[in-house]
Amino acid sequence: MLRVTVCVSGGGTNLQAIIDRIQDGTIRNAQIVQVISNNAGAYALERAAKAGIPGICVSPKDYPDREAFNEALLAKINEVSPDLIVLAGFMVAVPKQICAAYAGKIINIHPALIPSFCGKGHYGLHVHEKALERGVKVTGATVHFVDENLDTGPIILQKAVDIMEDDTPETLQRRVMEQAEWVILPRAIDLIAAGRVRIEGRRTRIS
Ligand code: GAR
Repeated sequence: MLRVTVCVSGGGTNLQAIIDRIQDGTIRNAQIVQVISNNAGAYALERAAKAGIPGICVSPKDYPDREAFNEALLAKINEVSPDLIVLAGFMVAVPKQICAAYAGKIINIHPALIPSFCGKGHYGLHVHEKALERGVKVTGATVHFVDENLDTGPIILQKAVDIMEDDTPETLQRRVMEQAEWVILPRAIDLIAAGRVRIEGRRTRIS
């Protein structure tokens, strides 16, 4: 059984998708053992509580500096030593010590087709604002392994989503979530739980 920590910051719809797909058997051989939020008010923590999953807040506001926060975050994760850490709308750059301790065991969902609209400043609704500004006709979502840089790790799954003439950042965000994120993030976890994802340099191989 793959033991999973999910890190969140906000609404937690991706967390909900994982919970639902574990419950309906789409994700096999995995269980969420811990939900961590950097934000005490995150609705994602309520979703965890409703599902009976231990949820905790580790906020930078509660620590004197970033290094103390980073250490506290690592210590919390180490309490359960998960097999996989899923960043599901986690708006914190993963500290180097966590990347090192859990190398090849951290995945992220990004709301665009990497390498488009990713890296610094590209998170949440901003990603969709930028896609609309640029006038692309197709966008989507990407699940990738996390390395020490932002949105650069090996890609596991991607799914494209058409942009409509009258899209706003909000309508586009919703469609990307429904058609792509809530599908490929659970699928990636299922594949990893089945031992079917291998990292080979900058790419992954799925068997
Ligand atoms: C999702 O769209 C996720 O892809 C994005 O934040 C949203 C969180 O929504 N993540 C990033 O932008 C990371 N760079 P949720 O809390 O409802 O899952």
